[in-house]
Amino acid sequence: PHTSNWKLWDGNDVARTLSDRSTFSHKGSFGTGLLLAGSDEMPGSALLAGLGAMKTGIGKLVIGTSKFVASTISNRLPEATYWFDGLQRCAKGHLVKGIRAAAIGPGLNAPYLVEEAINCLWERDIPLLMDAGALTEREYAPRETPVIITPHPGEFSRMTGKTVEEIQSDRIKLASEYAINHRMIVVLKGTYTVIAYPDGTGVINTSGNHCLAKGGSGDTLTGMLLALLCTEEDIKSAVANGVYLHGACADEIVKNKDARAVSIGELTDVLGTVLQRIK
Ligand code: APR
Ligand code: MG
Repeated sequence: PHTSNWKLWDGNDVARTLSDRSTFSHKGSFGTGLLLAGSDEMPGSALLAGLGAMKTGIGKLVIGTSKFVASTISNRLPEATYWFDGLQRCAKGHLVKGIRAAAIGPGLNAPYLVEEAINCLWERDIPLLMDAGALTEREYAPRETPVIITPHPGEFSRMTGKTVEEIQSDRIKLASEYAINHRMIVVLKGTYTVIAYPDGTGVINTSGNHCLAKGGSGDTLTGMLLALLCTEEDIKSAVANGVYLHGACADEIVKNKDARAVSIGELTDVLGTVLQRIK
């Protein structure tokens, strides 16, 4: 890729591109997002992604998950509604009405169902984010509406067949090639997350720190991105802004405590402070 098409993404970029909220807005203005996440063994992934979405300003959130997961998390996420066994129902071709964007993957460990659910979502004219359990090596038909993938290097290795070492030594080039060839937005996570767009451009995130090196931080990012896909017109900057804000929350938290002692659920607690300073 032409490195002239690439730039760093910082707080000024967020301030410039994140849209203002209208006085005359209502929950419908900010869209309904569908989150297919969480399994009985990983209920927290649905909670963390759900908190990420809610705190980033989504209008309404529907979580497709099991009754067990829903009853485990709902007292910490009273704003969400639930679509019981949404993964199974989506895999059979059903979908809740009025969805503006969908995210699938955190805490999912049923590859066959996930594949079928992706096939269903693929046909709908809404931005689709795939993370974690939704990231596999498979073929995708061409799609007009934006597709966003958020692999960590291990997942990108699984998708591409390249080793983690190969990926880490050439992150920009490999993410960009994949984005161009598959017409997807590739968020290749890690220190200085790389965001590659299908048009050959890209940005490198400048926020974040090693307090994010803990299970569940990627799930939180998925939820934050889902909210921005529902609320922002420009998908390219929406994705970059989500990645930046996620890292900026981590930077805010370590001002007051050692990174080791940070729990991931705290990330979205400081998002309000971060946003207030930036906007
Ligand atoms: N500096 C900056 N950012 C970091 C650092 C670091 N040292 N370490 C991690 N991060 C950020 C990444 O950029 C990314 O945004 O933290 C997030 C980690 O995301 P994941 O690797 O997806 O972590 P996690 O939430 O634990 O994933 C949960 O999904 O990816 C699967 O196998 C994973 O089952 C697990 C689940
Ligand atoms: Mg993850």
